[in-house]
Amino acid sequence: MARTRRELLQDGARLGAAAVVGGAYLGTAPAGAATAAPYATGFRSLTSEVRVPALHVDGALPRWLNGVLVRNGPALFEIGEQQLNHWFDGLAMLHGFAFGDGRVSYANRFLRSSQHDAWKRTGKMKYSEFGTDPCRAIFSGVTTLPVLGTVPNANVSIERLGTRFRALTELPVPVRFDPRSLKTLGADAEAAPNGRLGTAHPHHDPRTGQRFSYELELVPPSGLRVLVQGRDGTRRELAFVPQDRPGYLHSFALTPRYVAVFTQPFGFDLTKFLSPQRGPIVTNFAWDARQPSRVVLVDRARGGVAATIEVDPFFVFHNINAFEDARGRVVVDVCAHHDDGIVQALYLKNLRRAGVRVPQATPRRLTLDPASGKAEVRDLAEGNFELPRTDYDRMNAREYRYAYGVGVKDPARSGFIDRISKLDIKAERLTHWDERGAYPGEPVFVRRPGGGRGEDDGVLLSVVLDAPARTSYLLVLDARDLREIARARVPHHIPFGFHGLYAS
Ligand SMILES: [Fe+2]
Repeated sequence: MARTRRELLQDGARLGAAAVVGGAYLGTAPAGAATAAPYATGFRSLTSEVRVPALHVDGALPRWLNGVLVRNGPALFEIGEQQLNHWFDGLAMLHGFAFGDGRVSYANRFLRSSQHDAWKRTGKMKYSEFGTDPCRAIFSGVTTLPVLGTVPNANVSIERLGTRFRALTELPVPVRFDPRSLKTLGADAEAAPNGRLGTAHPHHDPRTGQRFSYELELVPPSGLRVLVQGRDGTRRELAFVPQDRPGYLHSFALTPRYVAVFTQPFGFDLTKFLSPQRGPIVTNFAWDARQPSRVVLVDRARGGVAATIEVDPFFVFHNINAFEDARGRVVVDVCAHHDDGIVQALYLKNLRRAGVRVPQATPRRLTLDPASGKAEVRDLAEGNFELPRTDYDRMNAREYRYAYGVGVKDPARSGFIDRISKLDIKAERLTHWDERGAYPGEPVFVRRPGGGRGEDDGVLLSVVLDAPARTSYLLVLDARDLREIARARVPHHIPFGFHGLYAS
């Protein structure tokens, strides 16, 4: 891909400026490799907010596709003079694709978080993010704790609670928005105390109307709290698991009987957190390979911990699904990383550079016997798999066959996600969609109305960066064979995001 000298200089300046503040950055690129990665456009800021009534479509959108795909992700990677360090830090932007009558419209809008408002008002970063703190000089002598706004920069995922749409991040404060206009409606909870994390991946049980989540208390009494919220909105604690060094976690799983939480020895160092050398929040977690990973099984009906089962340590961002087998064992499928190297690899300085390899995850099954405490661990297929999706409403917490995700064609050479993958658990096989210069995001499964003719009878919706064109498009694949059905081109690039939701 030809790049102008000016663009290369801009990239170089950005790379030079993106020093990691207190970070345990582990670059794997050879020294001096400062050339921008071919997909670096996906980590460039997008500032324009547009509405396009009808995108140009190649192919034919299914007429039954009648709803909206809302996606969330970071879109601004520098605030004034301040370069943000980590992919997870960028200012949240919502992207909405509305389908109907074989056509699709597009709109995008920044989430009006406290951070966004401070940027607009002062041109400066004011609040702490995952891997970046605002310039210390502003707060010197005031506090060493992270500075949090009342409306978090919720750039990770989208949740639907009846008619309420909420953007989520790893703080227990959802941010409501209007799915049509994408206008921010405000924080949907009281501000949480400093030192409490939440999850961007709550679970919903369509059979009971319950919502499950967790909170991580970093400050004593520290530990993991598992919560359930009933249909009527009342919330209660199902279990509290004391932890001296709470382990970072990003998601969990649900079965008919249990809340299953995979915890990992990426522990929080409170002493460091409270010291002047604190650094951004992520820098206070440290991997300890001498410690096991654990799956904590919380009894959904009675509350309390039913079993805690240890396995050799590995790192998980995303659970795929979980269920109970005929023998009462708990089956938990995850995307397994070797260790916390993936967290370190996702610093922007690393991601934007050519020749950098990002560690990849393996689809892995843990079969756990709550009675004996024994665990069997095996990989579900050969290859790499992340950002997993299933036919959630129908298959979550049930024995299932298919999951959809993304991966990397050649992990030894390629740096970043460059294919969509379908995991067939029965066949123990991954199949793929890829195209030269294309860098797709999380594929969202949408079932064909009327039940369909099988678990995979539906489409996958994925936002893809066309790196040579420096624009993005919405790709529609047949979930059965990953054949392309249609693509709708967006007028600009959409920075790489995390998660989205389709609502009919
Ligand atoms: Fe996630």
